[in-house]
Amino acid sequence: SITEEQKQIVKSTASALKENGKEITSIFYKHMFEAHPELLNIFNRTNQKVGTQPLALANTIYYAAENIEHLDVLAPQVALIAHKHRALTVLPEHYPIVGKYLLIAIKEFLGDNGTQEILDAWGAAYGIIAKIFIDAEQELYNELGPDEHDKGFVPLNIVKKETVASGPIVALTLERHDGGKMHTYHPGQYITLRITKDGSFHNRHYSLLEPFDGKTYRVAIKDEVDCDPKGVVSNEIIDNYKVGDTILTSFPAGTFKLVKDVKHHLFVAGGIGITVLSSLILELHKENKANSATLIHCAATQEHAAFADQLKPILSENQYKLFCQGEKLAKDDLQRALTVDSHVYICGSLPFMNKIQDYLAECNHPASQIHIEAFQPSLSILRD
Ligand code: HEM
Repeated sequence: SITEEQKQIVKSTASALKENGKEITSIFYKHMFEAHPELLNIFNRTNQKVGTQPLALANTIYYAAENIEHLDVLAPQVALIAHKHRALTVLPEHYPIVGKYLLIAIKEFLGDNGTQEILDAWGAAYGIIAKIFIDAEQELYNELGPDEHDKGFVPLNIVKKETVASGPIVALTLERHDGGKMHTYHPGQYITLRITKDGSFHNRHYSLLEPFDGKTYRVAIKDEVDCDPKGVVSNEIIDNYKVGDTILTSFPAGTFKLVKDVKHHLFVAGGIGITVLSSLILELHKENKANSATLIHCAATQEHAAFADQLKPILSENQYKLFCQGEKLAKDDLQRALTVDSHVYICGSLPFMNKIQDYLAECNHPASQIHIEAFQPSLSILRD
């Protein structure tokens, strides 16, 4: 529990800590991984390297601290994070470890200014925030049913591997052959694939490509050779996994989804961002509502525009606009496709999503009708 006085201490120190959040969480991760190298099996080291994960954690803790008196405002963020934690098998016993090293880091950072009172207040606040996450995650684990295996990673069989666009973008079709259940999902959700490399696990989330058919999961993976850092997991899967192999997978998670009963849906995809959006469009099609969709897809070339074959037959010419290199998407293009009722779904690289959000802000489009699905930890990209 937390006292009124402690709440005030947390609120009054939150902004100073927030300004240095990245530094504090970087100290935190360094100490925590030294003491608990086994946690490297669930954390994404690429996100550590580029600093987005420390920032996401810091932003959430400070946002929670600022709102400690009405934590219900956090509900959408809690749901998003809890889904990701469950997909990565974060467990209640991990919370005291994170809490311990977070306090050590705050203490180290504050030096002489870090009074016992301040540290106790932050310890109490962390306890409250942690409990909210633990409870939310418990519910998600429960939804997976009584089989303990299903709460972790299970081996699924690769039954098909095909190149679906230049890039290359490779689609994998997975089935379960151990007699267990394939859990259902809604378009917008992802599965998490786990590979072993250099002695530890690496996990990545991949959006599911189409509405559930009752027995398979399909994901698209892009070869990330030109990226820095390189796509550790994606490249390994593309290069070394073949039909007949199994791959460790945790069951579908994620909160991104279609808003129901809406007059118009505008999908804006940058490159591989089309994977999750095409899944939503296929869901509309399944419900005979594809005529309420417009898709704007920015891709390097026509050959890079994945899923065009699937989408073109269900979208009319004025519902599907492809922008290739050289023809830059301008604000006017977006505005032409937009109505006051449009719900806009955006997925792509960070600069791409920022640009689209800026355009929408210039069009005064309500933020409540904008839905983004980020490749990177989404709370690292909180915008003002
Ligand atoms: C991801 C917050 C506790 C492991 C995240 C993200 C946030 C977050 C904001 C990014 C979500 C996204 O947008 O993708 C928190 C908070 C915690 C907490 C506020 C405590 C109250 C934990 C614990 C563990 C953990 C106890 C396990 C030791 C992870 C992992 C990721 C993650 C592995 C995935 C991102 C990556 O690997 O880069 N968490 N977390 N978290 N969290 Fe936590």
